[in-house]
Amino acid sequence: MKNKVTKMTILKMKKKGEKIAAITSYDYLSTKLIDDTGIDCILVGDSLGMVIMGYENTLPVTMEEIIHHLKAVTRARPRAIVVGDMPFMSYQASVEDAVRNAGRLVKEGGAQSVKLEGGERYVPVIEAIVQASIPVVGHLGLTPQSLHEFGGYRVQGKDAESAERLISDAKALEKAGCFAIVLEGIPWQLAQKITGSIEIATIGIGAGPHCDGQVLVIQDMLGIYDEPLPKFVKMYEELGERIRGAVSAYVKDVKDGSFPGMEHSYSADKKKGPSDDPEDEKGNIAR
Ligand code: KIV
Repeated sequence: MKNKVTKMTILKMKKKGEKIAAITSYDYLSTKLIDDTGIDCILVGDSLGMVIMGYENTLPVTMEEIIHHLKAVTRARPRAIVVGDMPFMSYQASVEDAVRNAGRLVKEGGAQSVKLEGGERYVPVIEAIVQASIPVVGHLGLTPQSLHEFGGYRVQGKDAESAERLISDAKALEKAGCFAIVLEGIPWQLAQKITGSIEIATIGIGAGPHCDGQVLVIQDMLGIYDEPLPKFVKMYEELGERIRGAVSAYVKDVKDGSFPGMEHSYSADKKKGPSDDPEDEKGNIAR
């Protein structure tokens, strides 16, 4: 594949000061659309628990769900590097679990790297996954799998002590072999400091403009998700409204009989007429 983005590409981008654009995707068709835009990194995030499955948070997401969506995404053979998220409890209980589950995301799901949440205490886990030749993305700050530990979705690293801890976590993750770290929900000054103190890439979400790259959940930026959005989301479209409008028009047409018309219908008549469609001689319908 032409110019496939790899962990080396991301590291080079960091070195050259080239910004890294990342986005989530969970299905084949969206991935094909997204990959045409020059996006560098596609994350099959455990955010799928909320935006696809309708769970209240990311904690119920299973390995099977992540693998199912990873398969759909990687079937699109994107140029962007595909990162598979390690769901809650797929890496916390033991290093062995973590390596096996990271391996499943690569072997069964086709991911080119995996992401996991947490700082210094996950160094042995990250080292073991990297030893298995699987590139790892770290994730620090407002890590949603720690929702109950934090007592809610709260910006992290606001005081000097927790900021220092996050800086040393970032350095520990770099030393353990991560090639990038997602920084979520931290003050921009801290994100800037972390970005300047490590040689691996930082990908921000709610971490200000000074990270090496940014990531957003696609449903948020397209305006499809119907929950209130956090301040850090920039909505580039209001697709939710447009989908409602289009489906309402369809419902109206069906109810009042204006759809389907003859132009959408097949004829038993062998002679081609205005209502005939491009069927081949065997009756197959061109899509
Ligand atoms: O699950 C996810 O989509 C994520 C991003 C928000 C970074 O972890």
